[in-house]
Amino acid sequence: METVPTSPLQRAQGDLMRGIGKVLFTEAEIRRRVAELGEQISSDYAGLDPLLVGVLKGVAFFMSDLLRAITIPVRMDFMAISRYAPGQGKGPVRLVKDLDQPVEGQHLIFVEDVVDTGLTLGYLLRTLRARGPASLEVCALFDKTEHRLAKVPIKYRGFDLPDRFVVGYGLDYREEYRHLPFVGELRPEVLGLA
Ligand code: IMP
Repeated sequence: METVPTSPLQRAQGDLMRGIGKVLFTEAEIRRRVAELGEQISSDYAGLDPLLVGVLKGVAFFMSDLLRAITIPVRMDFMAISRYAPGQGKGPVRLVKDLDQPVEGQHLIFVEDVVDTGLTLGYLLRTLRARGPASLEVCALFDKTEHRLAKVPIKYRGFDLPDRFVVGYGLDYREEYRHLPFVGELRPEVLGLA
């Protein structure tokens, strides 16, 4: 029998695929939806030169695809955060890298990969609002509403997500799986639940 040659990337993805229970969103579905979001933002923000702001690292893939789907002048900037352990009482996160530029008077779109409890997003929106932007809206690729604790306004939403832990397209589990081009559910045994 003839064997099909595989590239190192295909072999690495094949190994990771063993941890995936189900593909929830294919590469083509994500591409189509991101193009639609880009089109909508381009039309809503014509003449406003929006600044897209994201939190490293999960959003990097979505941010770069969204930026390329926007047809008006647009810029991006990133923050990085670390999460406090529960019970430390300082809010859910600490900023470890701030934005490069002041954002006063600018039209900001906060770009998020997944909104789950909404606590991270709520905290970061309060932080940004205090800096006096001209406007501030949220664009989230995935919205997981089942465990929502903070009310967060999501103007642009990619997909609703069931209450599952997903990986791929930038989303990781212990820093792995980010480079999968689709988004899939992890098998419970990988998460240590089975
Ligand atoms: P929240 O503060 O509970 O809304 O947490 C949102 C953050 O948790 C996201 O920005 C992700 O970094 C992470 N997160 C939530 N759900 C998932 C998931 O299913 N896969 C990977 N990361 C997730």
